[in-house]
Amino acid sequence: MRLLQWIALSLLVLLAAIEATSAEPGGEGLSARIGGGNPAAGKEKSDAGRCQECHGVDGNSGDPRIPNHAGQYAGYLAKQLHDFQTGARRHAVMSVMAEDLDAADIADIAAYFAAQKPMRGRDGSGKAAARPLFEHGDAVRKIPACAECHGSNGEGRAGTDGMVYPMLGGQRKVYLRAQLVSWKLGERNNSPDGVMNEVAKRLSDDEIDALADYLSGLQPP
Ligand code: HEC
Ligand code: HEC
Repeated sequence: MRLLQWIALSLLVLLAAIEATSAEPGGEGLSARIGGGNPAAGKEKSDAGRCQECHGVDGNSGDPRIPNHAGQYAGYLAKQLHDFQTGARRHAVMSVMAEDLDAADIADIAAYFAAQKPMRGRDGSGKAAARPLFEHGDAVRKIPACAECHGSNGEGRAGTDGMVYPMLGGQRKVYLRAQLVSWKLGERNNSPDGVMNEVAKRLSDDEIDALADYLSGLQPP
């Protein structure tokens, strides 16, 4: 990693850590997760728009390649939908599914899924091999602690600066692994300042497997 990139990344981690310590104990309330959308309208729209067929009525998907949305930060879901629309993030199915949503649809659907009981870990093997890496990173290899940004149970966080760190705990294992691989290869590159590409390219394939396994078994509060 070039020095400047490393300094920028370190700064991001530091800012995230400072913000995390100044947050209220127990994290933000549900309203911070839901944002400004209308969950009741989002329920109708996500049904009519067929989102529930793949992502589950309650936001828990029935296919390991399809991400859960239950309890996910609305700000994160909305950003992804905008990114699918602009092409900043690409996926054959999702780019089409997001195409016709307007700003109110996006806010409402995101609010509906965010309001659901947080995704339940059910894919993890219970092995905690990746826990030290998740909680502390690896200073020698300049890998920042995932927990600084994503929370110690992978519960995610909405920063006051508009940054949203997605919930990872309880997410589908196959999906998590696929995202880490595509950040690493640069196929997905929509994270602010490329932060996730910088993180993932330093991870070995075995570490990616272990992280996906560990995270999918966590239960966010
Ligand atoms: C045919 C199945 C299918 C349908 C229908 C579908 N999705 Fe998806 N969705 C996926 C898959 C698969 C992914 C993972 C994409 C990837 O691997 O990058 C995804 C990803 C997403 C993401 C990104 C989640 C994350 O954690 O980054 C959002 C947000 C999303 N979908 C919202 C929606 C909404 C809203 C609708 C309805 C308008 C919808 N989806 C309909 C299959 C589907
Ligand atoms: C400096 C903060 C930061 C650190 C450290 C960090 N992340 Fe992230 N991560 C983010 C942000 C911000 C996003 C959302 C990107 C976007 O908006 O598309 C993200 C997204 C992700 C996603 C995609 C989730 C989804 O639903 O598609 C995964 C998986 C992920 N991170 C795993 C990790 C792992 C594993 C580590 C540690 C090895 C880590 N992250 C370290 C900030 C961070």
